[in-house]
Amino acid sequence: MIYKTKILKVAEAHGLNEADCVPLVLIDEAANLLKKGNIVAFPTETVYGLGANGLDAKAAASVFAAKGRPAQNPLSLLVADRKMINMVAEEIPEVAEKLIEAFFPGPLTVILKKKAIVPSVVSGGLSTVGVRMPNNPIALQLIQRAGFPLAAPSANLSGRPSPTSAQAVHADLNGRIPLILDGGPCMLGVESTLVDCTVNPPLILRPGSITKEQLSEVAGCTILQTGDGEKQSPSEQFLHYAPKAPMTVLEGPVERMAEAVAEQVEKLKKEGKLVGVLASPDVVKHLVEHGVLLSVSCVSCGNQGDLAAVGANLYDALRKFDNKMVNVILAEGVPDVGMGVAIMNRLRKASEGRIIYI
Ligand code: TXA
Ligand code: MG
Repeated sequence: MIYKTKILKVAEAHGLNEADCVPLVLIDEAANLLKKGNIVAFPTETVYGLGANGLDAKAAASVFAAKGRPAQNPLSLLVADRKMINMVAEEIPEVAEKLIEAFFPGPLTVILKKKAIVPSVVSGGLSTVGVRMPNNPIALQLIQRAGFPLAAPSANLSGRPSPTSAQAVHADLNGRIPLILDGGPCMLGVESTLVDCTVNPPLILRPGSITKEQLSEVAGCTILQTGDGEKQSPSEQFLHYAPKAPMTVLEGPVERMAEAVAEQVEKLKKEGKLVGVLASPDVVKHLVEHGVLLSVSCVSCGNQGDLAAVGANLYDALRKFDNKMVNVILAEGVPDVGMGVAIMNRLRKASEGRIIYI
């Protein structure tokens, strides 16, 4: 199906008096589309989601089609209240209760045993389902008005960086969906922490801005992370977050980073490559001061001391390279702690394992 994709600004996110805005309490156009089995893209505090009725197999199937997503990669469900969690989850272990109590609404998805009401197309054939309550008024209002949980993956084409603005959604999905609710840029910019609560102790399948330490403290036990254990998310086998040009990540001590990036850029330039660099303002400054930047495109997303800013700008920065004439990208790694764990997870995947240890 080919759509004329409409972008609808939500007033509260853009200043009340702007023309062509719809007030938050009137997002009925979007809710009505969902009720008819259609798809709508909308903002959350992490990244934009692509939502459809999560209890309707046909509607959920159209989400896979719009994204070009493999059928074995399950969709998680976004809920607006406790009633909706009980509607879809068969069993909520005590530790999951604690995490829900502490972190919902927020950037956490808990994997729980699913009820039969959740179609198997949503869960990719698994007996479990991911559940999250987003901390964004537009998302919550939309789910409430629809009246059912939304099957809602990130609103990008499969394999591409997640979208953190309505424009990024449009770049990937124009013509594939009828409506995008524009709520401005996403606050966090990195997808939710994904925790499997069907195993004991719970297991982090995807790191996010809520850290392993924060989760362990609330759970009262040590929560493990994929890599520490055996179990993998079904999505591990698929390409993720990739910009169009191949990317290499540099990992190592902060104090050696600027020189290492400069060295690699020079090497690639000698090979005749058009190089893009994703680096902090500090490293960019070093490159400029050493005359390295003359023929490279540089995108910067925040200093290593402000990982929240790096996270918020990461996907937008990766997408910027798509419009630049580069045939390789070098990305500066960040320390693997706190929010840095999630950022490194995304950078390593986006680079498909091309890592240089400095
Ligand atoms: O922050 C987020 O989680 C965003 C916003 C839109 O809510 N959503 C998001 O969805 O990132 P998606 O589909 O792009 O990523 C969800 C991940 C996928 O890697 C999927 O494999 C995994 O969650 N997942 C979903 N259900 C699962 C299940 N039952 N068991 C294991 N992994 C699951
Ligand atoms: Mg995704």
